Amino acid sequence: MSTKIANTTQALAVIRAQIGDFKPEIALILGSGMGLLADEVENPVKIPFSEIPGFPHSTVKGHKGRLVLGTLEGKNVVIMQGRVHYYEGYPMQQLGFPVRVMKSLGADKLIVTNAAGAVNAEFAPGDLMVIRDHINFTFRNPLIGPNDENFGPRFPDNSQTYTPGLMKIAHEQGKRLNIPLHEGVYLMNTGPTYETPAEVNVARFLGADAVGMSTFPEALTANHAGMQVLGISFIGNMAAGISGEALTHAEVIETMELVKDKFIALIRGIVQNM
Ligand code: HPA
Repeated sequence: MSTKIANTTQALAVIRAQIGDFKPEIALILGSGMGLLADEVENPVKIPFSEIPGFPHSTVKGHKGRLVLGTLEGKNVVIMQGRVHYYEGYPMQQLGFPVRVMKSLGADKLIVTNAAGAVNAEFAPGDLMVIRDHINFTFRNPLIGPNDENFGPRFPDNSQTYTPGLMKIAHEQGKRLNIPLHEGVYLMNTGPTYETPAEVNVARFLGADAVGMSTFPEALTANHAGMQVLGISFIGNMAAGISGEALTHAEVIETMELVKDKFIALIRGIVQNM
């Protein structure tokens, strides 16, 4: 496995050539079916991931794979429209690379969203969960390899990967917009397979409320670089074995369609108040 992380210099040069001295303050990474929010950015500059040196590109249907820079709710933002997953075959270090580029552009806050399966039987498809903490069930780490001291220390603390102040803003906006929000622990599995019912039982036993195939690499890289992080899971389905139904990606996308408006309203409210 390669542990060499691309240098951000070339990526920054390509992006800067298109945005001049525009400085994003908030970075957003949008998960399955949530990329629509990026279409609402004002005065957007859109750069396909494939044109940015070192950026992994998405291969999953429904993931657009481009960086969108502009304003949202009056804030300068940089959005990854369509994230790349570990199961697509990229080393985990490369999944963290765009986070470092966004931090270098000026963003010191990150909102990361994902689709997840509910382990907590009190959740229902269509619900939203603020991520309080995560469990790395991949046993890989995006920070393995030489440490780049320009971003952060060799042994980063992870006692508050997700920033309490941002969680509070999310809950305030949920209340204001009348969107109920759970709070809980997200467990990342490598994918691309969904978990077995036995694994879901293990996840519950370990304290997880939701399971998914993303987010942890980006959140960890952002935390290492001193960024504030907010994670929000959209519950697309009950995790394997809970409802007895077989899981399909189509079901997740269908559920997302039903709740995308409330999801977008929530993220907009959070961005406005960050
Ligand atoms: N497991 C893992 N990832 C997911 C799920 C799930 O049940 N639903 C959406 N993404």
